[in-house]
Amino acid sequence: MINQTRETAGALMADALVQLKGIEKHFSGKIALDRAELALRRGEILGLVGDNGAGKSTMLKIISGVLKKDAGEILMEGQAVRINSPVHSRGLGIEMVYQDLSLCGSLNVWENIFLGRYQTRSFFKMPSPVLDKRKMIKMTVETMASLGIRRLDANAPVRNLSGGEQQAVAICRCLLFHPRVILLDEPTASMALKERQKVLELVRGLKERGRSIIMVTHNLEELFQVADRAAVFKEGRAIWQGPLRGLKPDDVARMMFVGKA
Ligand SMILES: Nc1ncnc2c1ncn2[C@@H]1O[C@H](COP(=O)(O)OP(=O)(O)OP(=O)(O)O)[C@@H](O)[C@H]1O
Ligand SMILES: [Mg+2]
Repeated sequence: MINQTRETAGALMADALVQLKGIEKHFSGKIALDRAELALRRGEILGLVGDNGAGKSTMLKIISGVLKKDAGEILMEGQAVRINSPVHSRGLGIEMVYQDLSLCGSLNVWENIFLGRYQTRSFFKMPSPVLDKRKMIKMTVETMASLGIRRLDANAPVRNLSGGEQQAVAICRCLLFHPRVILLDEPTASMALKERQKVLELVRGLKERGRSIIMVTHNLEELFQVADRAAVFKEGRAIWQGPLRGLKPDDVARMMFVGKA
């Protein structure tokens, strides 16, 4: 079954939105990515799985421009692109929600969402330094509502929110840039089952609104709940990529730990 659905990792995917080929990354002489390949199709959720240290976060950070690759190529819609900083990836419509969420606990929800890009008011069509708090709260509430979140207080300090709610804030923050591609690094890590299900619903909602998503997860059950396809990383390489239909979590676990299909 696995062999029937196998797509060789390096196979050219003509319909890929984002494709990474031959990616290498070293950290002080140690290899983190060793000619790694990955392809994300339009409108899909691609699950990225693998053991600790397999290179999953490093791969996402290379797509988001936080880390520079040592070798390899990144293509968007078949065209080679340069991504040397998060500004580049943002310009291409790519946003990443990091494993630590990078939220500021003492600030409230709307302040976190607009941190670094506060909206200001204008007077008689002239810009002013006065913050347009009402506009930012309205945009926060609207973005939350577009994800089906209606009960979260935009004025609540982020440190008082649950892990799932904080994940929602981090996702809303990246949505203000209208990304086509969203990279999520273990969005449900260390969450209780109920919270985890809410975050997975959010991820499904992003897909329903046309976003293409790469989601790193250690949880194979949730991989099968939300992902269309998966990529299995081992020791810096994508050892398998393919659709999950017809497979079971045990099949993927075997690939992760034994290293072959
Ligand atoms: N900034 C860094 N400096 C040095 N080594 C690093 C750095 N970032 C990652 N590494 C190393 O690169 C390898 C891949 O790490 P990476 O974080 O990508 O793995 P991962 O698959 O995300 O693992 P996990 O499931 O534990 O999050 C590991 O051996 C890690 O120790
Ligand atoms: Mg990681």
